[in-house]
Amino acid sequence: MNFDHVHQAAHKLFDLNDQDRMLACSSDFWVKHPRAERLIDSIYFAMKMTGRINAPCMLCTAEGGQGKTALILELKKRNIFADNKMLFVTMHQNANSHNLRDLILIEMGVSVGRRARAGDNLTPELQARIKSQKIRGIVIDEVHDALTLTTVQQKQNLSLLKNLSSDIYGLSVFAFGIPDAARVLRRDPQLERRYAVKALAGWDNGPDFRNFVATYINRFPLKKPTNLKDQTLYLKILETSLGLTDNIVKILQSAAMAAILDKSECISHYHLDNIEEIMENFNFSLRLNEPANEAEGD
Ligand SMILES: Nc1ncnc2c1ncn2[C@@H]1O[C@H](COP(=O)(O)OP(=O)(O)O)[C@@H](O)[C@H]1O
Ligand SMILES: [Mg+2]
Repeated sequence: MNFDHVHQAAHKLFDLNDQDRMLACSSDFWVKHPRAERLIDSIYFAMKMTGRINAPCMLCTAEGGQGKTALILELKKRNIFADNKMLFVTMHQNANSHNLRDLILIEMGVSVGRRARAGDNLTPELQARIKSQKIRGIVIDEVHDALTLTTVQQKQNLSLLKNLSSDIYGLSVFAFGIPDAARVLRRDPQLERRYAVKALAGWDNGPDFRNFVATYINRFPLKKPTNLKDQTLYLKILETSLGLTDNIVKILQSAAMAAILDKSECISHYHLDNIEEIMENFNFSLRLNEPANEAEGD
């Protein structure tokens, strides 16, 4: 059989039985796309600007499921080979969550024991580690979770955020969160001025979207080629997904699994017209994000 329509990296999957081949379709992988690449480029560019009193910072906002965490994982992977190192933390939302300072200390390998909690001055130690580990930036995921903290905790986090990018630490801060996260910064005029806000918008029907979908489909171990010239196929995927990456990926993965199960071996209109039922069979569901709340109050 000829599998030229499938990416070389997936050819070995044709040795698997059908069930394992289906499972292979359900595993996530990163697809390069221009918008993410531009963002990654601007992050590396920001870390190169060393001649400034305050390091340039960025807040990247996008709806849940648009691909923020996936992009951060990709950044992390690539950062292993980069000269300018980054630190990666996530503001988790839970009762015994650490504050930002503790998250950073843990990530740097400083134990957060009694000493640290007693309010000792850890600045010199942090400064030394940032220097010796060649750290130029810090990436914070789920930064909107800061909004759920108490006022005192928020104040501590905001002041640390400011110090991180000041001459005390000199780090570029790259914060990621849902659009509401911009409210965190607005609490402090200095912070607000220091951050460039970039919104990662939903997909629209253009070449970037079609490339993303086609690249994804080419990676599935399906025995027959899907008709990637069929514009209405793309349109159906875009409309059902509401332009959300998470939905696009789940639609494609479940359609590919269905195509193995029903032996058609390529994604067709039949799958897209019945996508909700197909997704349900694989315990996937479409994500319908709440419209952004524009109200400003707390
Ligand atoms: N560039 C990409 N290539 C392939 N899959 C992606 C890409 N970006 C996002 N995804 C997928 O979309 C889904 C949601 O992404 P995620 O990063 O969790 O969104 P967010 O953090 O914005 O809520 C995940 O399954 C992820 O693997
Ligand atoms: Mg996320």
